[in-house]
Formats: sequence, C-alpha cells, structure tokens
Amino acid sequence: MIERIKTFNRPKIAAGNWKMNLDLSGSVELAESLATGFSPETQKPVSMILAVPYPFLSATKSAIQNNPNVHLAAQNLHHEDKGAYTGEVSASMLKSVGCTHVIIGHSERRQYFMESDDLLLKKCQKALEHGLTPIYCIGETLDERESGSTFDVLKTQMMEGPLQLNAQDFSKLILAYEPVWAIGTGRTASPEQAQEVHAFVRKLVFDALGEHVALSCPILYGGSVNAQNAYLLFACPDIDGGLVGGASLKAGEFLEIAGSFWT
Ligand code: PGA
Repeated sequence: MIERIKTFNRPKIAAGNWKMNLDLSGSVELAESLATGFSPETQKPVSMILAVPYPFLSATKSAIQNNPNVHLAAQNLHHEDKGAYTGEVSASMLKSVGCTHVIIGHSERRQYFMESDDLLLKKCQKALEHGLTPIYCIGETLDERESGSTFDVLKTQMMEGPLQLNAQDFSKLILAYEPVWAIGTGRTASPEQAQEVHAFVRKLVFDALGEHVALSCPILYGGSVNAQNAYLLFACPDIDGGLVGGASLKAGEFLEIAGSFWT
C-alpha cells in the first residue's frame, strides 16, 4: 500500500485561512495579488483555496474570478438550512456568494466555541448536501501529544466525524491535520512527525472505506507552515498541501508556499 500511496496522483492544495484578520480593502488587495500571481506551471494539478471572513466573501470572489485555480472558502457554517439562528450563516448562503469550500472543525472552533465531533459531523453533512467541499480539521493538543495519546485522539476525531460518512460522501472531503500546538506558535511539526500522522490517518480511511478512497483523499498539514518549511513538508508522500494561517496573509510568502510543490 505504501508504494502505491507514494505514486498516487492526488491534487495538491495550498489553502489560506485568513481567520479574523484584514478589512474589506485589505482582503480584496490580497486576493487580487494572489489571483494575479498564482499560475501553477506544473504537471501536477495545484489549486489555491482562500478561507475568508464572511463579510468579505463576495468581494473576494470578484477579485479571484479570473483565475480558475483559486477557490473561495468560508471558515465555518451552521448545520441547519435556515431559521431563527441569529448571527449564523447557512450552506446555501455560502453557495450563493460563490463559496466552493468550507473549513469545518478548526481547533479554534473546537476550543473556543465548544464544537463537538457530533456537531462537526452535522456541519459536514450539511456542507456536502449543498455541494460545498468540507476541509475537515483534526489535531491533538500539546498535552495529548506529550501524554502519548495523539493517535487515540485523532482516531476518535475521525471515527466520530468524517468516518461516519459513506465512501461516496467521504471522497468529496479534504482533510487537514493541524496539531494544535503548532498553530500560530511558530513551532511546526517536523516533516517526520507530520508524515507519521498523515500515514496513520490515511490508514484509518483505508480500514474503514477501502483503498481507493484512502489513496484519493487529500490530507493537508497545518500549523506554522511558512515559505521555509513548506517544501520539506509537501515533499512527504502523504502530505498533499497545507492549511496556512499567518503566512497566508502575505501575498509574496503564500505564493511561495503554493509554489513549493514544483520548485
Ligand atoms: P498558522 O495557522 O499557519 O498561523 O499556524 C494554521 C491554521 O490555523 O489553519
């Protein structure tokens, strides 16, 4: 299986997560620079995804529309279709402003907004129902890593989350492994640490849903990815790209990261 994983031609993805940063003009300016600068001249399919704060989605969509390799994502969604949920945003609303992707289960949502595996599965199902591609995040905390429970934690997040889906639905997902201790800390997982987890997660998918689904599923690494470490991380056989926070706010650096697949 390992040999086949190495040679399987999965799509390569550089996803930027802008979190709660920028304003309208800053978002448009950054999106325009990225859409102009991103021209993957490579045999491999490479795409860029921008996960943008809700108020800037429409304007960002206009700014990227001339580049078919750049896609729009939201950072969250509500699990119901509509109704009395003040402050929430539905999947159909996201579709109507041009989103194709949505981040689900980012550790900041799990940690600060108490989002459980159960809720995240509902969000994932709602996104899929509306034709949005979930970027489904999993990851362990520092305490969990240091106490040796990383693989148990990830297994639970997978089994109670996306591995509840059938193979057809699961095959529409992008997964992101983001160790919580590496997010925004400047402390990146080493390529060996990240590869070990990615291979473990792919094996979980293999055991639950079979070889084809496991080999086709893109798994991104996230946590202090920058222009210096992206090349080494993306060279690992089970790492199909990055979910990038801080470094995605600088056009030059994010373009360099997105270029790390073919340099
Ligand atoms: P970071 O964030 O690149 O700033 O560590 C990654 C993320 O939270 O998606």
